[in-house]
Amino acid sequence: MQRGILVAVEGIDGAGKTTQSKALVRLLRKNGYDAIYTSEPTSVGVGKLLRRPGLGKVPPALEALLFAADRMEHVRRVIEPGLRKGYVIVSDRYVHSSIAYQGAMLGDAEWVRTVNRFAPKPDVAFLLDVEPRLALSRIRRPRSRFERLELLEAVRKIYLEMAGAGELILLDGTKPPGQVTEELLARLRPFLPSPKSNCTQKLGP
Ligand code: TYD
Repeated sequence: MQRGILVAVEGIDGAGKTTQSKALVRLLRKNGYDAIYTSEPTSVGVGKLLRRPGLGKVPPALEALLFAADRMEHVRRVIEPGLRKGYVIVSDRYVHSSIAYQGAMLGDAEWVRTVNRFAPKPDVAFLLDVEPRLALSRIRRPRSRFERLELLEAVRKIYLEMAGAGELILLDGTKPPGQVTEELLARLRPFLPSPKSNCTQKLGP
């Protein structure tokens, strides 16, 4: 069985990660891939705890450890089994979210990297880049504690540094949604395993 691949979709709140990750999974399935959508923070165990209102009061370092613990469970429960089954796993946020957000809040992105060393590296990671002002204007529901202009400016800066270092593939998240999905697929193409053998469709947008 050919091992699957792990694709991470990253960006600040309001960048369109969820819409794009789900659209990418639909497109991959149409093209004969066993693709699954997953996201962080998860909604079980530590992930559920992280979503509880009021957690904003815990020290940022503890919060970083909680995000890492949630990720450890996510890797064990979803990512590793999916990779073993040969799936293309599209994760709406992964390790780079912690490096960017907790790195910005703590001022020590290297420490955040260290506590996340257990997590398998994504085969491909995308950054959907949108300016914080525009991203915030896209959020229609009440804002979470992370959705503040000044924090998102700092988070975006770390994301852009990682893209500059070649860790993330930079995409313009302000383009029309359909175009962004096509670009994701096009940039992902070189990393994809061969589609299911019983599928005769060719990969294309
Ligand atoms: P988000 O992607 O908005 O999840 P959902 O749409 O399901 O509520 O993530 C919630 C918040 O968690 C977001 O503001 C960013 C933050 N976050 C971190 O700070 N560090 C992390 O490692 C992760 C995964 C998320």
